Amino acid sequence: MIKNDLLLKTLKGESVKRPPVWMMRQAGRYLPDFMELKHKYDFFTRCRTPELATEITVMPVRQIGVDAAILFSDILVVPQAMGIDFEMKKGTGPWLENPIRNPKAVKNVELPDVNDRLSYVYEAIKMTKDELRDEVPLIGFAGSPWTLFCYIVQGQGSKTFDKAKAFCFQHPQAAGALLQKLTVTTIDYLKGKVEAGVDVVQLFDSWGGLLSPDDYQDFSWKYIQQIIDALKDEVPVIVFAKGCWFALHQMARSGASALGVDWTCSPENARKFSGGNIALQGNLDPSRLLSPPKTIQKMVKQMIDEFGKDRYIVNLGHGILPNIPVDHAKAFVDAAKEYT
Ligand code: CP3
Repeated sequence: MIKNDLLLKTLKGESVKRPPVWMMRQAGRYLPDFMELKHKYDFFTRCRTPELATEITVMPVRQIGVDAAILFSDILVVPQAMGIDFEMKKGTGPWLENPIRNPKAVKNVELPDVNDRLSYVYEAIKMTKDELRDEVPLIGFAGSPWTLFCYIVQGQGSKTFDKAKAFCFQHPQAAGALLQKLTVTTIDYLKGKVEAGVDVVQLFDSWGGLLSPDDYQDFSWKYIQQIIDALKDEVPVIVFAKGCWFALHQMARSGASALGVDWTCSPENARKFSGGNIALQGNLDPSRLLSPPKTIQKMVKQMIDEFGKDRYIVNLGHGILPNIPVDHAKAFVDAAKEYT
């Protein structure tokens, strides 16, 4: 039994006294204690060392008072386990020396034994669960196959992911084969996370909104639906697909327990497009945490008024930015907790 059950109740569609609050990418970046660890250990060392991952995961629970923890890790550990050697380059971010650019390279991608290759994640989950003592639920996550594909083919971050799209449109079959390999691995990986103890899983489709609605079906949604089908009876699934308001009606019928929305979609439209019954999560513009705390407070209250206190999870519309002052992040969380 988790003591703070606001998130779990909301995901079941039950009424709550106030909505739960957490922030995407809350583990790290803007926290001074994290920055200290960042100077001592490189990024993937932090991910691969269960003690460090645990310490970073628990930080925002203790320091900001969020209603859920999200495991410190990265979506790129999945391609790494498949033999795709991502590094985190200073100033560039995710970096792949040899991006996958042709059908032959897709054939060489391995389907890994996740229990072997990603055992460090499962250890971090067990250690974090011990440390949290069932105070709040622990969220595990994965990138959507499409979002992973974007990095694997582009080889680094991009505003357009044009090379990833070109691969889809020039080699649709090979693209489908790679997306399917990512899907199978992600299902195995998330099942392992559930077994290790996560209470909720979230899929990040950060780049879904770069696709047209039709292409979204073919290159992203089709695979997300397989993941939901495989997991929904074991654990509540949250799908955050940035820029994908056009697919909310379909996502609402997918078996997911909640849908993330970004700040370009109004609460009213998000409720309308998703049919009004499913839990929604979001959607303050992350840059808005640069406003004075009093303004943040007002905006959070207005956001809850507009989404409604039930079937709603207070969050940002994408990950928190590194330059957010800690007291502003705290003002965001406090405003949700003080909602009446
Ligand atoms: O939410 C959390 O707090 C849990 C931790 C988490 C991280 N990455 C830690 C991280 C989560 C959920 C992610 C997901 C992730 N990683 C996504 C999807 C979510 C999103 O924001 O769209 C994506 C696209 C990635 C890939 C990735 N990893 C990028 C684009 C970057 C930024 C690179 C940069 O230069 O800032 C990372 C690095 C990363 N992942 C950091 C953290 C805390 C910052 C780098 C560091 O601390 O050294």
